[in-house]
Amino acid sequence: MKSTGVRLVALLACLGVCGAYAADSATVPLSEEIAAQEAIYKSTGAEVPAGYVIDRSLTSYTQALAEGFDRALGMLRPGDRWLDIGAGRGQAILDYYTPRFDMLHFEGREERGGKAQAVAISIEDRRTPEWHAKAATLPPDKIRYLADRRLREYSLEELGKFKLISDVIGGFSYTTTLSLFVERVLNLLEVNGSFFTVLADVRSEASANEPFYAGSPFLTAIAGADGSEVKICAWLKSISCVQVTCEFKGNWRPPIESFHVRKTCDEVSVPMLAPTHFTAGTPPERGFKLAK
Ligand SMILES: C[S@@+](CC[C@H](N)C(=O)[O-])C[C@H]1O[C@@H](n2cnc3c(N)ncnc32)[C@H](O)[C@@H]1O
Repeated sequence: MKSTGVRLVALLACLGVCGAYAADSATVPLSEEIAAQEAIYKSTGAEVPAGYVIDRSLTSYTQALAEGFDRALGMLRPGDRWLDIGAGRGQAILDYYTPRFDMLHFEGREERGGKAQAVAISIEDRRTPEWHAKAATLPPDKIRYLADRRLREYSLEELGKFKLISDVIGGFSYTTTLSLFVERVLNLLEVNGSFFTVLADVRSEASANEPFYAGSPFLTAIAGADGSEVKICAWLKSISCVQVTCEFKGNWRPPIESFHVRKTCDEVSVPMLAPTHFTAGTPPERGFKLAK
């Protein structure tokens, strides 16, 4: 019992959604919610909310993301590119650029030779001295950190294509424009490339779970045009030119669902979602409705 308790606490701290707060969104205008969310992004020092975790390690990424992420990262070659959306301090990328990563990823080490180029995107610049020190030891642009813009504000020409894209409680959990976000991600992904991401406290593919916080809705929810519930997994599976697997991790607190989206061809079409509800938080509470 004791070790289970310790594990749950560790997972809670690791995913960092325990501190999610939600004002009564029925009474708070959307502009105030957006302003409150901006304040979270801009927070520094002691003002950073406890639930806003910006320094997850690569090990935390591997635990949260679907099976296959770790292997996909290990198989990247020097000419390949990895994009981490909502990278926070970029700790996962720093961990990738360590000899320890090679020790733990023996498979493909010979062929791999050097590492892939890694690009971090964050709304706010959370780079640390450690990031700058590592970047200075590597060839120019081997690791890049792009800040001050959201994913949707970059063009394909600016960012280029990627073999692997990850998002751990980053833009996928925070965006107000979920379908546009996924459209952008798939546009940036090479055919046969993979997008690994995760959401906390959502209705799982198997529907066996209820919202984690009593009296609150799921953190991200989609309604069909007729108002019926559409699971996140089902919505992702309705996108053309992708193969999707959804992994529910019910022992996390709150439970999470991890998604692996593999792009299979270029003719991607993402069913559009209109935002219906947004309450600032870490991450925010969001509702969307499928356009007809
Ligand atoms: C809670 S932090 C997670 C940081 C990191 N993934 C980790 O696990 O430590 C959320 C990150 O997502 C970023 N973010 C949120 N919405 C975004 C968007 N639409 N485009 C790019 N970054 C976004 C924030 O700026 C921040 O870097």
